[in-house]
Amino acid sequence: MYEGRGMRPFCFYTMNVEIRPNTSSLRAQHAALRPITLPPDKSIFHRLLIIGSLTNSRIQIPITSIEDIPVDVYATILALQSLGVPIELSRSEIVLEGVGIGGFHAPTHQINCANSGTTARLLIGLLAGQKFSSKLTGDVSLSKRPMKRLADLLNTGLGADILLSAEGRMPIVINGRELHFGIINLPVASAQMKSAVLLAGLHTDGEVSVTEPLQSRDHTERMLKAFGAKITITGTTSAINPKSNFTTDEEFTYHVPGDISSAAFLIAAGVIGRRNIILSNVGLNPTRRKFLDVLAASGLEIEISAVREEWGEERGRIEILGEDTSISKPFEISPDDIPLVIDEIPILSVLASFCKGVTTISHAEELRNKESDRLAALVKNLRAFGVLIEEKEDGFIIFGDENFIPKNRVIEHFGDHRMAMAFAIMGLRTKELVTISDASVVSISYPRFFEDLALIVGARRIKIS
Ligand code: S3P
Repeated sequence: MYEGRGMRPFCFYTMNVEIRPNTSSLRAQHAALRPITLPPDKSIFHRLLIIGSLTNSRIQIPITSIEDIPVDVYATILALQSLGVPIELSRSEIVLEGVGIGGFHAPTHQINCANSGTTARLLIGLLAGQKFSSKLTGDVSLSKRPMKRLADLLNTGLGADILLSAEGRMPIVINGRELHFGIINLPVASAQMKSAVLLAGLHTDGEVSVTEPLQSRDHTERMLKAFGAKITITGTTSAINPKSNFTTDEEFTYHVPGDISSAAFLIAAGVIGRRNIILSNVGLNPTRRKFLDVLAASGLEIEISAVREEWGEERGRIEILGEDTSISKPFEISPDDIPLVIDEIPILSVLASFCKGVTTISHAEELRNKESDRLAALVKNLRAFGVLIEEKEDGFIIFGDENFIPKNRVIEHFGDHRMAMAFAIMGLRTKELVTISDASVVSISYPRFFEDLALIVGARRIKIS
């Protein structure tokens, strides 16, 4: 079975996974239904580390295990440590000592953001207004992703001095300087770009406002507000006052909720395997939970309970009644909703293949700029499994079939965690053994994905080696 993970959260150990067909004609007998705890939400975690560093507080962040932390989060931890922020990790918690605005030190070496786009974009905003220069690098995938549109916005809009490679990508040199007030209009809805502007806006000589064409996830705004920064939000415009003093206590605890984007894959496993599942303590931020509405509109019964709010972020329990209800109608996803389901489109596309009728994804060209070109990767993989699909410049059209039996033996994930997880779920419906090599890529957001999947579909169907 599974070996080699030990206390090596940051390494990319080799991991191969086999998804075995369901040979039993009877529904498999599973352990009693127990709630599954998801990995912490990495979007919130990155922000907590970065915005927490700007406070003067000691922040305790309870964790279930070091091994459950999404690998992307380590990129942010290492980056902040190299900027002089004391961050300590133990088995049960991460403790961060905020250094306050202006409290960072110049890094002695370049900062490697690894695979993490959120780390890179948020740091660009944070570092643009420092009194020192820094250089950011990334892995092969991150080095292909666009950085120019953010650099141009900060350079022309706030007077930053950010230099990119000739192709407008990483490595990035950020010559920190005093920034100016400004009004920024984002060309596309992007939580990463919006957050970068707001972080830069804490280091300017006047108010900075940022407007996006459509609402994207709003964790940054919520956290800045909850920590006492002077931020006002009107529609899709947020305005931040520079040198906002945070009002957090000397010491506090922040529980990062479970990642609703990771939940989407387990929910899909429940749908595919006709299983009921319970997920506890899941983040329920309204800008992240849209895919639940999409699934509910298609017929799936979903119950949400035990909802409470902490630091401006709702969290609660999600119960999927997959044994008695399922998806049937094709999905309706309007262009305005795309930013709200941006990370769920891979798994929604897999599920749409099993719904009779046509599901159209449009206005989703941003997916070409993710950890892989997700439009191209989805079309390629769905076709490889036998799905009827038509590619468009900004999306695709899936012709779903409720009797669809996927056929493919080897899953290609393009180095993209969400592709690996989405197609592992599709593999559950094949009649043959399906393999995924280098499956440790899932650790980017969900290190225990295959173990948790085994809880839902039965341990004998998932072999990890
Ligand atoms: C993220 C924002 C999204 C999302 C990404 C994480 C964030 O990207 O795709 O996985 O944490 O801000 P956008 O910047 O396109 O909204």
